[in-house]
Amino acid sequence: MPAFFLFTGVGTGLAFHDGGVARCGGCHVMHGELDGQVVMIGNTPLLAASSSTDLCLACHGGNNGVFALSPLDPSPERGAGNFIFLLEDNLNDGPDGSMNPIGGETAGHNVISLANGVGVDTQWLFSPGGNFPSNELGCVSCHDPHGNSSFRMLNGAGPVQGGLFTFVNSAPEAAGINGTNPGSFETDDNHTAYRSGMGQWCANCHGTYHDGPGSQIFEHDFDEDISDSEMDNYNTYNGDADPSGGHSATAYLAAVPFEYSGAEIDNQAGPGPGSRVMCLTCHRAHASSAPHALRWDMNAGSLDQDGVVSGSFPIPNPYLDPGQGSLCSKCHFGDLETSRLVPAESP
Ligand code: HEC
Ligand code: HEC
Ligand code: HEC
Ligand code: HEC
Ligand code: HEC
Ligand code: HEC
Repeated sequence: MPAFFLFTGVGTGLAFHDGGVARCGGCHVMHGELDGQVVMIGNTPLLAASSSTDLCLACHGGNNGVFALSPLDPSPERGAGNFIFLLEDNLNDGPDGSMNPIGGETAGHNVISLANGVGVDTQWLFSPGGNFPSNELGCVSCHDPHGNSSFRMLNGAGPVQGGLFTFVNSAPEAAGINGTNPGSFETDDNHTAYRSGMGQWCANCHGTYHDGPGSQIFEHDFDEDISDSEMDNYNTYNGDADPSGGHSATAYLAAVPFEYSGAEIDNQAGPGPGSRVMCLTCHRAHASSAPHALRWDMNAGSLDQDGVVSGSFPIPNPYLDPGQGSLCSKCHFGDLETSRLVPAESP
């Protein structure tokens, strides 16, 4: 679907989502200009598209949006990742990847959009670790269609989707780079600044996934302070080819972010006391071209193998070294030479 509305708000000086009542008609079918009432069918407002997700994607799809036109040509990365990877036929870049395809469905959140060919996730009936129903998942499960003051208009504590589900934890504190400008994209000095609460926010639907005895696949802290040894490792690690050549003032890697209060989008320093691991240290919020919306492909022996076997989009390698391995090493270099720390990948 073309992004035919995207810049309607630009030029008037109004950001679309806080454009006030005049903008209701951007999303709803209205009774005439004068009385300005939203047309309701019972308790449900009539939308200007066949579903709320299709509505969002009418403006936010396309080559500059969060649902690009081709999985091999995603939009510039701005933090959350692109839903187009859900349409990939294979994400498995392991040596046996062509024999054991991992379908695009596992690339991330299956936001149901008939217009874009995304159906209900068939692997999970509910969010793993929690109980959000997969057959209701759409943009407004996570974002407030009427705008709010939260980071990226994320839903805070309270009812979502007209009471279908209730969030217990509030929206995260963070700041993002320009979310729609074609010239804006993620770099090591222009990236989402994660300040607090992201792990708890994901936990609204996923519980304390990976943490504690309930986690079935892979146990890892989230929303915990980074301990001294991992902190030192992050600060000195500059890729497998130069594992101790880094400096804390420039150690930040947008591909492996962490959270701390006071974070800024142009921060380039590595972690200090109080910096935390959180879900988005390893995952993208929307989707990626690796299984489970991971930020790098755990199946690929080295990052330059990403995309080679599966034919999926190769996630950029942040280091020059073609032999660079998994970015878990940003915090665990050395530890990972024992395969003990590498979780077995599941389809
Ligand atoms: C960015 C798109 C967008 C804009 C702009 C917008 N709405 Fe909505 N609105 C939605 C969506 C999506 C829903 C949820 C529909 C659903 O769940 O089926 C909704 C739901 C509603 C509802 C039902 C009750 C509720 O809150 O869920 C009312 C009433 C409503 N909108 C009125 C308005 C009015 C009045 C304006 C202008 C001030 C407006 N909307 C602007 C997208 C929008
Ligand atoms: C008519 C076009 C239009 C529709 C429909 C639309 N948006 Fe937007 N959206 C925009 C524009 C333009 C911007 C950038 C300016 C701004 O921040 O308002 C934007 C910005 C955003 C942002 C980034 C806000 C930030 O803080 O940086 C999010 C998130 C977003 N929209 C989500 C949605 C969701 C979810 C829906 C569907 C309920 C939706 N949009 C529907 C035009 C639209
Ligand atoms: C509104 C509820 C909701 C929120 C909030 C939410 N998720 Fe999910 N998530 C789901 C549902 C439902 C599924 C299962 C359906 C699917 O995979 O599309 C899922 C699946 C996943 C998967 C597995 C994808 C796959 O197919 O293997 C990952 C990874 C994930 N979520 C991570 C996160 C992270 C990280 C956050 C916070 C940034 C988050 N989720 C926030 C509802 C949610
Ligand atoms: C599972 C929750 C979830 C769902 C579902 C979701 N988003 Fe997001 N979205 C987020 C989070 C979290 C961020 C911020 C991610 C970051 O910066 O790391 C975000 C960021 C964005 C941005 C800012 C630009 C960017 O690429 O980071 C836009 C625009 C946006 N979302 C639109 C949408 C639209 C449109 C949909 C539906 C097609 C959607 N989102 C579905 C959680 C979600
Ligand atoms: C240190 C990195 C890391 C952090 C932090 C992390 N994850 Fe994961 N996650 C992974 C890896 C690696 C996998 C794939 C494991 C596998 O397939 O064996 C995964 C898989 C998943 C899956 C897919 C489950 C499945 O059985 O296929 C979900 C859902 C998920 N993570 C959610 C979350 C949520 C929610 C958080 C925060 C509360 C989080 N993760 C934090 C690394 C991480
Ligand atoms: C931002 C830093 C960071 C990243 C990136 C990271 N971890 Fe961790 N990891 C930690 C911290 C902090 C601990 C807790 C260490 C402690 O308690 O002393 C930990 C603990 C672990 C443990 C438990 C170690 C033990 O001996 O009990 C495993 C296993 C692990 N990580 C694997 C991974 C894998 C696999 C990845 C990549 C998917 C990863 N980690 C990415 C910071 C990180």
